[in-house]
Amino acid sequence: MDLEALRKEREGWLKWKNIAPLQEAINALPKPKVKQITLGDVIFAELEAEYEKEYGSQIEATARLLMPWRKGPFRLGKLFIDSEWQSQIKYNLLEPYFNLDGKVVGDIGCNNGYYLFRMQSQNPEKLIGFDPSPPYYSQFQFLNLFFDTNIKYELLGVEHLSFYEEPFDTLFCLGVLYHRSDPVSTLKSLRTALNEGGELFLDTFMIEGDGEYCLTPANRYSKMANVYFIPTIDALKGWCYKAGFSEFELLTIKPTDTIEQRKTDWIASQSLDDFLNPNDSSKTIEGYPAPIRAYIRCVR
Ligand SMILES: C[S@@+](CC[C@H](N)C(=O)[O-])C[C@H]1O[C@@H](n2cnc3c(N)ncnc32)[C@H](O)[C@@H]1O
Repeated sequence: MDLEALRKEREGWLKWKNIAPLQEAINALPKPKVKQITLGDVIFAELEAEYEKEYGSQIEATARLLMPWRKGPFRLGKLFIDSEWQSQIKYNLLEPYFNLDGKVVGDIGCNNGYYLFRMQSQNPEKLIGFDPSPPYYSQFQFLNLFFDTNIKYELLGVEHLSFYEEPFDTLFCLGVLYHRSDPVSTLKSLRTALNEGGELFLDTFMIEGDGEYCLTPANRYSKMANVYFIPTIDALKGWCYKAGFSEFELLTIKPTDTIEQRKTDWIASQSLDDFLNPNDSSKTIEGYPAPIRAYIRCVR
């Protein structure tokens, strides 16, 4: 596969008529004057007072144009971007299990880069994000004006990983697997992109129960049309071994709740509350078991 040709083609996506105005707004922002950066639960850029006074409303207007903000939170000066997801919950849950010091790290399905920004505090050699979504890429570009990182963002998908020029020491693929109609080949792509002994951190929807079974929603799951396979832990383990991983470790299990995912002023659409049965929150609106996620570590 000619990745350079693909990159060129995807750069062209930024000229689409729904994306071009976002790009123009981002390019129109004068270079931010940042006093200090804090990579905590809220990723925060403290701004020079003069800069903020002059451009604060332009920053807010640009951030609003970039809605919906699914992942975060971020603070740019006084502007708090309260995303739909409290992404620090997932990040803080996984962080005790990884050490990125000196590693080449990829976050596949990185959205606006929230986790990548946070991972900088572990001194990785390289941080590379993959996500084929121009709106999320635009959010990343906007944020990176303030945080000024060396993170490389590729408008590519997990399906391009096996052709990638550089192998990874650690890969994250969070909240992506249930969106794939081919979970075992997705896991194979992730495995081939790792160095021998490299680690994959994964989270995906699961169903409870013993045995190697999957829920395969014929139509929607939690109002999402693009959810294909929701495995038991045994089935998930089988997929990982079938894909060639040599180790599979269940780190933890966590139901998604309305602390982690909720409607805020920064999304215009519905959120978890609207996806669950109003009379029984252990079920989705379609009557399936409500979302629970398994957090996994695999080794190549
Ligand atoms: C449910 S979100 C998960 C975001 C983030 N990883 C997290 O766990 O919070 C799924 C992400 O996968 C991205 N995505 C869509 N197609 C993809 C593909 N083919 N390869 C990788 N990521 C993809 C979407 O744009 C979106 O940002």
